[in-house]
Amino acid sequence: MNVVTCIAPINIAVIKYWGKRDDDLILPVNDSISTTLDKDHLCTKTTAMASSDFKEDRMWLNGSEQSMDNPRLQNCLRELKKRAQISEEMQNWKLHICSENNFPTAAGLASSAAGYACLVTTIAKLYKVEGEVSELARVGSGSACRSMYGGFVRWFMGSDPKGSDSIAKPIVPVSHWPDMRILILVINDSQKKVSSAQGMKRTLMTSELIKYRIDKILPTKINQMQQAILNKDFESFAELTMKDSNQMHAVCLDTYPPCIYMNDTSHLIVDLIHSYNATSSKIKVAYTFDAGPNATLFLLEKDVPEFVSVLDHYFPSIENINIEYKKGIAIETILPSKNLLEKINFTKQTAGKLKYIIHTRIGNGPEQLSDCKSHLLNSQGLPV
Ligand code: DP6
Repeated sequence: MNVVTCIAPINIAVIKYWGKRDDDLILPVNDSISTTLDKDHLCTKTTAMASSDFKEDRMWLNGSEQSMDNPRLQNCLRELKKRAQISEEMQNWKLHICSENNFPTAAGLASSAAGYACLVTTIAKLYKVEGEVSELARVGSGSACRSMYGGFVRWFMGSDPKGSDSIAKPIVPVSHWPDMRILILVINDSQKKVSSAQGMKRTLMTSELIKYRIDKILPTKINQMQQAILNKDFESFAELTMKDSNQMHAVCLDTYPPCIYMNDTSHLIVDLIHSYNATSSKIKVAYTFDAGPNATLFLLEKDVPEFVSVLDHYFPSIENINIEYKKGIAIETILPSKNLLEKINFTKQTAGKLKYIIHTRIGNGPEQLSDCKSHLLNSQGLPV
């Protein structure tokens, strides 16, 4: 019997991946850049066990057993086996995999990136795979390849039709920008979404604007973003981040039928942030949105208490003893100055538009947990 447990982080793109040139190998139409978030607040944990006693491959996700009959999962496992450095006998042993997120799945936060990054890291250790493995995570979910590293990460689209050069590489480690902070605003929403895979496929088939984004805008923008990160130039970083999010959602709207991911509350958050930045006479906060209504905000540590006091004022929470409203790094509570509130051009909202807030920072890539108490499978290979 062999068992390995690892944890892996989620990542949030600041230059978005939207569109594939190969749907099976998951090869993108543009480079993208992301920030890896601290695993203390958001991560996936996976245990993989191989044993000659197991009769079949089995998998549990967040407490319930799942079918392994999923082409993306099978592609990942096949590629991992190709590069395994263990005996053929062991490679034929059946696998049990158990995976859990440390954040509520209902939050609608992108969990596939952390999920596939964790699966690939764990099984690569189990099979003693050596070398670059971000391309194996990519085969599970494109954005997962960026969760294989910490800090700020660039996924190079590459040009090889087989995808050998479509890999993620770190730009700078987590230590580069220690005062960068992230607020995730989880928005109350019950709408059914078009998945990002379906959405980007439809965009490439129907949008004219996506061609302009890929050919004319991104080649320059991606290097400007990398430079802003290297220079720790917050205002440039923030402006590029907001504009790229807006542009991704613009091409989603240009898709036919359109893919609409942001809702009214998302747009109100955008409006509040522009009003707050205008009042501050500089860009202090940036927003970005993925294929859903939740906002991810970037700001510097020194600006967190003031901005959160403004957010609490305009988006009051509902007192609910069952839900911890502010999760993650503790936030110093201050009252917003009257002067500031008078200048911000924004209307106070009814309570409860935000479900909760997660305050986090940039974090490291995946890691193996050595303590055997951390395994999610018992000695029989069943969830603990
Ligand atoms: C909007 O990685 O979830 O979050 O490759 O089909 O699994 P698949 O898509 P996925 O797409 C993420 C899209 C995005 C932008 C980004 O993370 O870059």
